[in-house]
Amino acid sequence: LEDPVPEISLPHTRHVLDQAAQILRDGQVVGMPTETVYGLASNALDSVAAQRIFKAKNRPQDNPLIVHVSSLKMLRSMLKDNIIPPVYADLIRTYWPGPLTLLFPRSSLIPNEITCGQATVAVRFPSHPISRALISACDRPLAAPSANSSGKPSPTLASHVMDDLAGKIPMVINGGQCSFGIESTVVDGLRVPPAILRPGGVTFEQIRQVKGMEKVQVYKKHFTDAAMEQAPTTPGMKYRHYSPEAEVVLVEYIKTEGSFASNGSVPTGTTTTTGQYGLILKEIEKLKQEGKKRFGILRTSFTTATPTATTAHTHQNGTTQSPDDREESVIEFPLGQGSKPEDVARELFRGLRYLDDQKVDCIFVEGISEEDEGLAVMNRLRKAASRTISSEPTEFL
Ligand code: TXA
Ligand code: MG
Repeated sequence: LEDPVPEISLPHTRHVLDQAAQILRDGQVVGMPTETVYGLASNALDSVAAQRIFKAKNRPQDNPLIVHVSSLKMLRSMLKDNIIPPVYADLIRTYWPGPLTLLFPRSSLIPNEITCGQATVAVRFPSHPISRALISACDRPLAAPSANSSGKPSPTLASHVMDDLAGKIPMVINGGQCSFGIESTVVDGLRVPPAILRPGGVTFEQIRQVKGMEKVQVYKKHFTDAAMEQAPTTPGMKYRHYSPEAEVVLVEYIKTEGSFASNGSVPTGTTTTTGQYGLILKEIEKLKQEGKKRFGILRTSFTTATPTATTAHTHQNGTTQSPDDREESVIEFPLGQGSKPEDVARELFRGLRYLDDQKVDCIFVEGISEEDEGLAVMNRLRKAASRTISSEPTEFL
């Protein structure tokens, strides 16, 4: 396997990168943009530095970190006998650098603080130029979980990192909005058949097409063998995740409603008071009777018609509305303009955080089909939601 891309140094941001690399070499942590979500980086070969990540995030001690490299040479240098398992050759050729994390047998070079007692180490080669250049500038692998406080939605803007971690970390590099907006796919190719432990930026449909990955299974979705279900997989997935302060209610995707076409493109429905959106409006009326006032809706079932609901509505894109405007009881945040699953993925965490800042009592999310990026989106939403609505409730008089 040859290195897929040359190392880069980004001369125009040299000053910032040198500063960040110095902080990292001193054993401290730095917030950095990646193409998935912002990461909180530390030197992956330094156990004390790793501890600082856990402290800043308030992360459970048994949840291992992903190690980020900027070349295959760097990867080999941290592996036992410098060998990349052949099972990964085609995945690496196709999807690195990119939003794909692979499990390797752990070598003694990687401190236990990173792997939390697992026999494997998770490694990713990010494509974002700033993370690549930063790893190169440090000239060592960087451990980096998502740069949120543990349990909060992952950060997709530098300001999200500041909201959670200001005062706890010395630096965040601002690289703008993350292009995927959802974390990397975690693949364990060391087991037979290979397994997707966490769906993410590279889709199940894409991985299945790679040579040697035809039989890949998605943890939870395809695992039928009870023993497999019990086996330790991705420890982090057992924790409550991606949760804003407000209650999150997931409204299951209804196929007939015309949300996404099955090819994931143009919305066709024009219904506004039936389907997912209709369910939400009814639920809001109920919650109002209970004294709840402010509601948020993350919308995916876009329609061409204007909403005809009785409630005052605003379409929000995260910029103009004052959070104290009590007139607005229902705030809608569109998850992407084109209604493609990749757009929903990009905007999901930003939308959850935005509505939370608006101090709503309850956030409704219109679920999408579990195809393509939709699988990762729904995986995150099921973890964030405290309840799910799946069909129109029958009304008895
Ligand atoms: O896109 C991403 O992967 C981002 C960016 C910053 O690279 N990072 C990220 O890290 O999402 P984190 O810590 O939020 O999620 C890492 C996931 C956790 O669910 C963890 O349990 C799992 O990867 N993981 C890490 N090492 C593992 C291992 N050896 N075996 C199984 N799962 C592992
Ligand atoms: Mg995370």
